[in-house]
Amino acid sequence: MTQLPGLLDTEALRKDFPILDRVLHDGKKLVYLDNAATSQTPRQVLDVLAEYYEQHNANVHRGVHVLAEEATALYEGARDKVADFINAPSRDEVIFTKNASESLNLVANMLGWADEPYRVDSDTEIVITEMEHHSNIVPWQLLAQRTGAKLKWFGLTDDGRLDLSNIDEIITEKTKIVSFVLVSNILGTVNPVEAIVRRAQEVGALVCVDASQAAPHMPLDVQALQADFVAFTGHKMCGPTGIGVLWGRQELLEDLPPFLGGGEMIETVSMHSSTYAPAPHKFEAGTPPIAQAVGLGAAIDYLNSIGMDKILAHEHALTEYAVQRLQQVPDLRIIGPTTAEDRGAAISFTLGDIHPHDVGQVLDEQGIAVRVGHHCARPVCLRYGIPATTRASFYLYSTPAEIDALVEGLEHVRNFFG
Ligand code: ALA
Repeated sequence: MTQLPGLLDTEALRKDFPILDRVLHDGKKLVYLDNAATSQTPRQVLDVLAEYYEQHNANVHRGVHVLAEEATALYEGARDKVADFINAPSRDEVIFTKNASESLNLVANMLGWADEPYRVDSDTEIVITEMEHHSNIVPWQLLAQRTGAKLKWFGLTDDGRLDLSNIDEIITEKTKIVSFVLVSNILGTVNPVEAIVRRAQEVGALVCVDASQAAPHMPLDVQALQADFVAFTGHKMCGPTGIGVLWGRQELLEDLPPFLGGGEMIETVSMHSSTYAPAPHKFEAGTPPIAQAVGLGAAIDYLNSIGMDKILAHEHALTEYAVQRLQQVPDLRIIGPTTAEDRGAAISFTLGDIHPHDVGQVLDEQGIAVRVGHHCARPVCLRYGIPATTRASFYLYSTPAEIDALVEGLEHVRNFFG
């Protein structure tokens, strides 16, 4: 068995994930390499979810009965866990949403409806990058279309990095918001936050970081990032679907207007007007994803019990091994950085002119689950002149043996297609 320095004890950890024991097709063991799409859920989180529904289920912030108080304490307890996990200065800066897309749409809409000095209008500019997930492109396109603001973006270098050579022309005195991904879901690139934040601060622009592919894989410290907003999602970090997070700086959340109106986000309501609850409740209209937040809290406990530093080291070792092994496969071209430096554990590639959907299908027949397509980051495929890629992505329970299985599987794909 291949041993690499820094690996976690996956033999023990994998026992926490019942799904990893699945056997597919004709007795093929599941090799789950689609973790950037969604991660698997450990028993510790499944148990908390079951216990929540079996013992505590009620609506939050509304009832005086025991179950309502327990559900509220669990929901708000999950907010405390998230705040600690990301080193937020205050728990009131943590807003629960349904996913990272909703978090990013929330920021775009807050700014569209904001008063000065935050308001995005036709005299202002919005900056994103060419490596964004659609969830960090489309909300800004909508905002630009609705307000007349100009949308600008950083391009990419041939080796899958952000091209910041024209940073002073892209981020200018007119820029209101710079929104970019910390770790690309398609290229795997880890972006240089500091340089972008420094320039944004010089011109007084706000900074929003999409940390969807970072929060599950590395320590995340919102104070160190020096951003104004950070978005991520629960289901990629051992939590359930239907729960996302938007962290925002307290003074901004106090000043910015709500986006969705409804129950529990108000202070008072008359038939003529309403006043709003303080953040975070101002941004959580209606019954929130209660069980999902509790599940996310349990996922955070689970990740903390392993240690985010150790998860990062494990994935770094796997990524180093995978980029080296994959590059030995004839005709395989990695789309993105070809070394593990400043790189996450999602690796996209093409294999000669075999269509990624065919690659994915033949791998699936061998029990190997990868994602194929444009990965909701179509501009990246356009930039590199390819219709789609195959993407393998690792997590804390991934092993070198699974990378070997992928490489073997790709040999099989090549033979299959001659
Ligand atoms: N954003 C997820 C991915 O990259 C769905 O696959």
